[in-house]
Amino acid sequence: MNNLPEHIAIIMDGNGRWAKQHGFLTRIKGHERGVLALKAAATGAAELGIKYLTVYAFSSENWSRPQAEVNALMRILVKSIKRELKTLMEKNIRLNAIGNLSTLPKDCQDELQEVMNATAGNDHMVLTLALSYGSRQEITQAMQSLALQVANGELKPEDIDQAAISGALHTAEMPDPDLVIRTSGEQRISNFLLWQISYAELVFLNVLWPDFSKEHLEQAIAQFQGRERRIGKTSEQLK
Ligand code: FPP
Repeated sequence: MNNLPEHIAIIMDGNGRWAKQHGFLTRIKGHERGVLALKAAATGAAELGIKYLTVYAFSSENWSRPQAEVNALMRILVKSIKRELKTLMEKNIRLNAIGNLSTLPKDCQDELQEVMNATAGNDHMVLTLALSYGSRQEITQAMQSLALQVANGELKPEDIDQAAISGALHTAEMPDPDLVIRTSGEQRISNFLLWQISYAELVFLNVLWPDFSKEHLEQAIAQFQGRERRIGKTSEQLK
């Protein structure tokens, strides 16, 4: 278990297909089962010694799903974070959230804030929920905030470097992901952490998210460990 990724990001995909395959009339059951898979992934990652786990729970684009599904996802979110506070405390996990959080329903924002405050002192792992999150939107906002600092004379244009851009993103406090996992067999990034995953290893698994278990997490980590992360260098230089 050496050479573990420090930060794993997961695109949890396939809840709707899982619900359909299991004969459920709505996709909601898939999201409900998806929460259990998230619990297994988070506790599994914490047990393995992963320091940061970031999951794509609701994208900026997901607002255009049918209203009933959006409402159900928000209800599941509120209920789940309330219910899982005990586990977060037991496992010493800090809850964090990124995205346009002010667009979430008020009860959702309040519950998130409450659990983030309650777990603020936990330091074994940081679990970040990306909610109402879109990477292009995040980068756009970061550019606007840097431009404003330049306009106010607080920042010189030549001081806008990679660190300044990273520092203006919602993920400023975290290292970049080393490993991105996407479930359900789809092979795309869907506007998730575009700047931050420049050097990440991508692993696509043929499992629908509700069926994801600690074994799948271990499989993805094993794939990561089997890769040579050259970051521009030659194989020989790494030896
Ligand atoms: C993708 O599957 C999944 C989502 C859009 C939502 C992810 C949400 C959860 C796992 C549960 C709620 C989260 C929290 C943090 C409590 P899909 O619906 O796109 O599936 P499909 O591609 O098969 O249609």
